[in-house]
Amino acid sequence: MSTKPVLWLRCEKKEFERRAALTPTTSKKLIEAGFDIIVEKDEQRIFDDSEYEAVGCKLVENNTWPTAPTDVPIIGLKELPVSTDPLPHTHIQFAHCFKKQGGWSEVLARFYKGKGTLYDLEFLNDDSGRRVAAFGFHAGFAGAAAGALDLAARKQGKELGLLTPYPNETAMVEAVKAALGGTGKGVKALVIGALGRCGRGAVDLFRKIGLNEDDIVKWDMAETAKGGPFPEILDVDIFVNCIYLSSKIPNFVTRETAIAAGKERRLRVVVDVSCDTTNPFNPIPIYNINTTFDKPTVAVDVGPENPTLDVISIDHLPTLLPREASEQFSQDLLPSLLTFPTRSSERVWVDAEKLFKEKLAEAVEAEGLA
Ligand SMILES: NC(=O)c1ccc[n+]([C@@H]2O[C@H](COP(=O)([O-])OP(=O)(O)OC[C@H]3O[C@@H](n4cnc5c(N)ncnc54)[C@H](O)[C@@H]3O)[C@@H](O)[C@H]2O)c1
Repeated sequence: MSTKPVLWLRCEKKEFERRAALTPTTSKKLIEAGFDIIVEKDEQRIFDDSEYEAVGCKLVENNTWPTAPTDVPIIGLKELPVSTDPLPHTHIQFAHCFKKQGGWSEVLARFYKGKGTLYDLEFLNDDSGRRVAAFGFHAGFAGAAAGALDLAARKQGKELGLLTPYPNETAMVEAVKAALGGTGKGVKALVIGALGRCGRGAVDLFRKIGLNEDDIVKWDMAETAKGGPFPEILDVDIFVNCIYLSSKIPNFVTRETAIAAGKERRLRVVVDVSCDTTNPFNPIPIYNINTTFDKPTVAVDVGPENPTLDVISIDHLPTLLPREASEQFSQDLLPSLLTFPTRSSERVWVDAEKLFKEKLAEAVEAEGLA
């Protein structure tokens, strides 16, 4: 029997999810480090099965992980389809069940019944408490692109229609430039949270579509310390909010300030990448729904006499750039994955397992399983 460490990349079953936790690039690096990488065939994934095969992964049929030996760790990205089947394996994925989200205890009950373990990707932290891997950069990049596409549509008197994933970053940049008539030059944007992951992505998109550097206003904590609402927001074409909201702060912009600016208001699009839509501290209280790829914008009622104002509040923006978003996420996860075989003594995994056990105990109580 092989004593090599193994990881089994399962398929994704969540609709529209084209991203992958392991890419051909990171799979190759794991194989070079002595891993066996088993990959389920998956038509939904942005990477072709053949790309994994070419770097030495072993392909298996779609959705066959339940039949894998229980000592083979299963890696995936998003939630498993809802079920009550026990989960006997070790899973690495986003499970969205540690913050008491809808159905949280049912998901954890499956691990309890199967004696499996969950390492949730959202809770793998480095020594300073920051996530080892997160999708922020491409969320900001794609959000800024969506904002620019909406601005272009509005300039033509249209509404922004269906957004679909782009094969790569270049295709997205070219599509946005084309929509703006060849270049984004002349457009002015403000990014708040510009020093963070999402913020840096938004700034990068604006640079790549050709905005003048002076027209990309970058704000972070220092600039918002004076407290909003900020008239500067009303004076750009696109405002992209990328902050990490952790406490109550003064509003950045309100419906009243937008109406008060009247016909002179330059602002046409607010892209709320942070998407604290239902958070009572949301500093952009001008909308209350999350928008979708089918209908990316919601109009703010600013009166028929004033220029339009749209909000984009899509909460899974990196899906628009599945290839690059997967590559960046997987590269960031790689150093931790390389230590997975010795996880019982690696802090990142020890902490994640401890958290899982705490949440499991809460779920056992909530479900009355003890
Ligand atoms: N919509 C999506 O698809 C999507 C995807 C990924 C992340 N997000 C969300 O985006 C947000 C940001 O994530 P991130 O990974 O970029 O976080 P991050 O911690 O890397 O960056 C946040 C930045 O916001 C700044 N900030 C915080 N409060 C501020 C304030 N009051 N004024 C100005 N700047 C402030 C911080 O200094 C930091 O630079 C999070 O809420 C995250 O959940 C959304």
